[in-house]
Amino acid sequence: MTQVRIVEVGPRDGLQNETQTVVTATKIELIERLVAAGLRTVEATSFVSPRWVPQMADHAELMAALPRHPGVTYPVLTPNLKGFEAALTHGVREVAVFAAASESFSQRNINCSISESIERFQPVFEAAQREGVRVRGYVSCVVSCPYEGPVDPQRVAEVAAQMMALGSYEVSLGDTIGTGTPASVLRMLEAVATRVPVAQLAGHYHDTYGMAAANVHASYQFGLRVFDSSVSGLGGCPYAKGASGNIATEDVVYLLHGLGATTGIDLERLVDTSVWISQQLGREPGSRVTRAMFAKRQSI
Ligand code: HMG
Ligand code: MG
Repeated sequence: MTQVRIVEVGPRDGLQNETQTVVTATKIELIERLVAAGLRTVEATSFVSPRWVPQMADHAELMAALPRHPGVTYPVLTPNLKGFEAALTHGVREVAVFAAASESFSQRNINCSISESIERFQPVFEAAQREGVRVRGYVSCVVSCPYEGPVDPQRVAEVAAQMMALGSYEVSLGDTIGTGTPASVLRMLEAVATRVPVAQLAGHYHDTYGMAAANVHASYQFGLRVFDSSVSGLGGCPYAKGASGNIATEDVVYLLHGLGATTGIDLERLVDTSVWISQQLGREPGSRVTRAMFAKRQSI
């Protein structure tokens, strides 16, 4: 059976964009529920500037209080050495650095050019290697940029190759504003695959235009076996106005199980978690799968 690894990014990519305050205890309960549903990699928070992303300002408090479980990893975002060193003091064993394939997005998101960001990541990789911490690389705007429009797949391939050359174990390809379609995503993947082995690529697709499931399917057929997703489809990016959350974890699990792949995730428990976090945030679950399964349960 084909195994697919799901990287749950809801507590980070999801909650970083919440307009309401989500207290640390709720974030921790969300992560605990996700782990109980079978998620083994849960991106927990970001060690970024609290002035840039106030929703992640409780990163230290969260990592200090988060219970650890064997076989479960809690990667965190670290844009620079300052973030990395702070994360390290909280026992973090995996971090993610994030670059972009578009200059304007890089400036708006991390206040530097793409080449400056690569330079800034260098000491993070060196420190991570010394400390035995794994580093995942993100590339944002792999299809389109909110400020510049369509992005050249060759540019994405170049930045992805740079992230690998720095020492990433995997590169996650972000369709940050969710405008991609299977055709544009495949054009991008074909270019990236000439520089980075497919086994080291992950799909990170936001669902703004409702294409994320189609893009996961196309990427799976292309050979990708790692996908990022967000429970209940929470989120967006504070520096990509109007973009909605990642593909909902429930939707990607339903899709992959339907294709005969295994994820290790219990869909029923995941749906419970999606309903729970939606209640906490006072809204309907953002996943069609959750809404359908919840309605079915209530009709029995
Ligand atoms: P800067 O202003 O250029 O940084 O921001 P600086 O080095 O000049 O420092 C300015 C202030 O920030 C200083 O504080 C530093 O101490 C502090 P002050 O002296 O003014 O009080 N600072 C920090 N504080 C905490 N943790 C740190 C840190 N670094 C500096 N690590 C910086 C540069 C990168 C810090 C800033 O732009 C930033 O934090 N950006 C984060 C943006 C972000 O988190 N965006 C969302 C995540 S990316 C995403 O969602 C896309 C993704 O999902 C994939 C996709 O969908 O495409 C991954
Ligand atoms: Mg994202």
